[in-house]
Amino acid sequence: MVAAEDPESFFATAPPLRDADAVSARLRDFIARNSHPSAASGRRIVCVTSGGTTVPLEQRCVRYIDNFSSGHRGAASTEYFLKAGYAVIFVHRRGSCQPYCRFLPDDSFLKFFDVDAESKVQVAESHATMVKKAIGDYCKAMEGGSLLKLAFSTIFEYLQLLKMVATSISSVGPRGMFYLAAAVSDFYVPWDRMAKHKIQSAGGPLDMRLSQVPKMLSLLRNQWAPLAFCISFKLETDSGILVQKADMALNKYNMNIVVANLLATYKQEVVIVTEKERSTIRKINRDEDLEEQMVEILSQNHSKYICGITNGCNQS
Ligand code: PMT
Repeated sequence: MVAAEDPESFFATAPPLRDADAVSARLRDFIARNSHPSAASGRRIVCVTSGGTTVPLEQRCVRYIDNFSSGHRGAASTEYFLKAGYAVIFVHRRGSCQPYCRFLPDDSFLKFFDVDAESKVQVAESHATMVKKAIGDYCKAMEGGSLLKLAFSTIFEYLQLLKMVATSISSVGPRGMFYLAAAVSDFYVPWDRMAKHKIQSAGGPLDMRLSQVPKMLSLLRNQWAPLAFCISFKLETDSGILVQKADMALNKYNMNIVVANLLATYKQEVVIVTEKERSTIRKINRDEDLEEQMVEILSQNHSKYICGITNGCNQS
């Protein structure tokens, strides 16, 4: 591995985001709509990142390194943030789990449909209630203009999107929140050092030099959206270092909260680490979403933060 790249050279050498102008217009409209005084009196806006970033090994990419994440946590959290009254910018990996679709079958959505005698397609009776609710909730969020979905695959797309979202959200000050659940690559091949065509196997074993992805959390906190409430995640496999690593992230990047989880148990429990305390929250029963409890606690902390910054709770 070579030393950490600096953020400027990362952005300068990254392939530019396709549709950057269209994305920036959608972001501008979304934030203007949701921060208009009539929009539930200056709504809170959260950017939820979700799914894993890929690292291409070739510019005309045949192979890539991937990061573990189904996107379930981000999708479920988006639903609960919307329910809590937030407007949500859902920055997600293409093809990962989507809000309101979490209960659709993995193998084939065709199981949800029947074809009747007149060849009309209908939702199977057994799934009708669930599908109706999902469609209703999804349409409500989309029609109300409170959900904006932006997709990425590569680390280049993810970090460019994060920067665009952050610089846009900065206009709502402390009402903005970042919930960084995406699993972000730590190592990558810089675009200008990447093979253009498919790497050939005839040359024998492959030696590859990976650079460190610059951590963007400091930039997010200090430059892109300095007043936003920032929650980052810490995923580890060794329980012995988890909370210590979360503490380090909290202090080093000046995060408001770090949510720490272990690969083996992340669906059952997480530790919420703040400057003052560490609290473990657990799933109580099988049907419950851990994200419901998480979002409730995080939004309460966000309220206190807004009160502190606006000096006396004169804004919601
Ligand atoms: O999607 P699921 O299958 O439901 O799984 C959810 C989850 C386990 C992926 C999620 O709960 C989680 O832990 N996400 C964060 C995983 C991760 O990348 O952890 P990390 O320790 O590598 O990174 C810590 C933080 O630094 C993250 O908030 C990340 O956004 C940020 N980061 C990481 C690398 C990098 N180069 N720059 C960053 O800013």
